[in-house]
Amino acid sequence: MIFDRVKPLDAILATAEKKGLQRTLGAFQLTMLGIGAIIGTGIFVLTSEAAQKAGPGMMISFLIAAAVCAVAALCYAELASMVPVSGSAYTYTYAVMGELLAWMVGWALILEYAVAASAVSVGWSGYFVGLLASWGIVLPDALVMGPYAGGIMNLPALLIALLITCLLMIGTTESARVNAVLVAIKVTALTVFIVLTLPVIKGANFEPFTPNGWFGAGHGAGLGIVGAAASIFFAYVGFDAVSTAAEETKNPQKNVPIGLIGSLGICTIFYLLVAAGAIGAMGSQPVNGPAGEILAPGTPALAAQCQSLLAMGQEPLVCSREALAHVLREIGHERLGDMIGIAAFLALPSVILIMLFGQTRIFFVMARDGLLPEFLSKIHPKWKTPHIVTMITGSVVAVFAAFLPVGQLADISNSGTLFAFFMVAIAVLILRRKQPERHRPFRTPMVWIVAPLAIFGTLGLYLNLPTEAKLVLPVWGSIGLVVYFLYSRGKSHVGRGIIDVHEDDPDAPPQPVPPIRD
Ligand code: ALA
Repeated sequence: MIFDRVKPLDAILATAEKKGLQRTLGAFQLTMLGIGAIIGTGIFVLTSEAAQKAGPGMMISFLIAAAVCAVAALCYAELASMVPVSGSAYTYTYAVMGELLAWMVGWALILEYAVAASAVSVGWSGYFVGLLASWGIVLPDALVMGPYAGGIMNLPALLIALLITCLLMIGTTESARVNAVLVAIKVTALTVFIVLTLPVIKGANFEPFTPNGWFGAGHGAGLGIVGAAASIFFAYVGFDAVSTAAEETKNPQKNVPIGLIGSLGICTIFYLLVAAGAIGAMGSQPVNGPAGEILAPGTPALAAQCQSLLAMGQEPLVCSREALAHVLREIGHERLGDMIGIAAFLALPSVILIMLFGQTRIFFVMARDGLLPEFLSKIHPKWKTPHIVTMITGSVVAVFAAFLPVGQLADISNSGTLFAFFMVAIAVLILRRKQPERHRPFRTPMVWIVAPLAIFGTLGLYLNLPTEAKLVLPVWGSIGLVVYFLYSRGKSHVGRGIIDVHEDDPDAPPQPVPPIRD
């Protein structure tokens, strides 16, 4: 039952062969696509959350998260080069481990993409509000913070999520050219940050290096260096967007692995330098409670402690909602701090767009396989977009963004992503065993070491997420199982013996079969 209903790999490949999308993307554009999806709220905002969890030791957290992503990316690359079609982890699992596990992965990807879109919306809001404040326009706290920090809702986060939803509904997609401009803005902003902060690093700011130890010094999951790694993993999410573009890529066998690994490598170098600059230039020690207790980010206790420090004229890095801009302002570069704010203001919405767009793609492919109802992916006659599913997803994303803290959203998103990567690593090994002779344009090097490292790495990070984020995955997964057995299993095309080979757009939802007349 668990492993039945495998979608034959050849049928999936035939789908890709017959479709009409042009193969226009090369290695450079793919790497840019990856960087465009990767650099976002993680580095611009969550740096302060990582500092609260790990202090200067967050540099090691960045390295751990990058290492797990690297081994996962090597596994992704093998499957993406063999199965260069849309749907990424979901499609791979369908081909290797069958429908039930594929459904679970697709279901988990909803967490990855939709909740990530919420997290980035909240991150954007922090920069927007900070930018307005630096221009003398102060919005009331009640409207820029959720209840977790004593406010009513995060209105800017809600509005940006709704705005992006509307853009997607009317058919806006990001062209490669716009993406390239936004990548240039982000990379320039990070470069300016590094150039200004590295020369003023003070060795004393790295002491103590691990104030909360590796695992939060016994204060529960989610803290310390490894807890920070589990959260900052979010900063790397997005490289899998490269694999979703495999169908539009020239020579995907070569270029997809280059795009995946290249974008991840470039971002890792930037992140390490940015983290070193932030820690060394400003200091990144955690803020503890009145009794010296470790406070988790996103909690009312930390918000209250930060408020009282602010009243005394201090704003440590860990209290800032616009970490990088704050560091530059603190070291005397007021205007350049604003420029970083403007860069984040301009570029983060594209990450929201990529995440929401990725979500609709996953829904599409699942609907194409009959696992989700057709009405969800109904195409608007004029806009030619799946407006219904976009509207529903976007509204949920907006509500989450309005009421939940950025770190918690990122952690929830991570739980879904880690599960998907875990399954991809298993899929690579199974496929090596089951179909050793199949042509592999890109082979994961040392697969029997790399894939187990990815399996244990993703599992290890998952176990070090905060408890609530960890619980979301089984709860969400259980809801998914109910939906699968009540609805999807009966409607599945593979289950009903229909092998779809769409000649037109592979992402178009399945069309109703026309009645046969004599
Ligand atoms: N990696 C993306 C970000 O940090 C999701 O915003």
